[in-house]
Amino acid sequence: MQVRQDWKPKIVAFCCNWCSYAGADLAGSSRRSYPADVKIIRVPCSCRVNPLFILRAFQRGADGVIICGCHPGDCHYTSGNYYARRRMTLLFKMLEYLGIEKGRTRVEWVSAAEGAKFSSVMNDFVQTVTALGENVKLEDLRCKEPLN
Ligand code: FES
Repeated sequence: MQVRQDWKPKIVAFCCNWCSYAGADLAGSSRRSYPADVKIIRVPCSCRVNPLFILRAFQRGADGVIICGCHPGDCHYTSGNYYARRRMTLLFKMLEYLGIEKGRTRVEWVSAAEGAKFSSVMNDFVQTVTALGENVKLEDLRCKEPLN
C-alpha cells in the first residue's frame, strides 16, 4: 500500500461531559498541546457511546477512535463508565476479529483535573495510530471524498 506523504490520521475522541471534556479544556487552557487531528465529540457520559457510533466513525474514514470518561467510581451517573468498559471490551474484540488493529481503539479514564494526562494520552494515541497507517477496513466508499 502506498502511503501519502501528507497523510495524518483522523482521530475521533468521545469525551464525557463531566470529566474528560473538562480535562481537554484544562489541557487547552494550560497550553498542553495535542494534535489537531483529534476531533472531540462531547457526550453526557461514556456509556452514551453506542457501539454503532464507533462502527460509523470507522465507516466514515476514522483511523482511530478513543473513548474517554471519568475514572471508575467517579462517573456522574454512578456506573455509566462500568457499562462503557464492558461494552467496549466486547466491541474492540469483535473489531479485532474483523481486522481493525487493537491500537486503533482505546478507552481511557481522564478526570477534569488531568489536563496533562489528556494531552499525553492523545499524543500517544495519535502516535500509535500513525504507526499503524491509514485504516481501510470497514470504510464505506460512498463516504470517501472524490480524488482531484
Ligand atoms: Fe463521565 Fe459517566 S459521567 S463517564
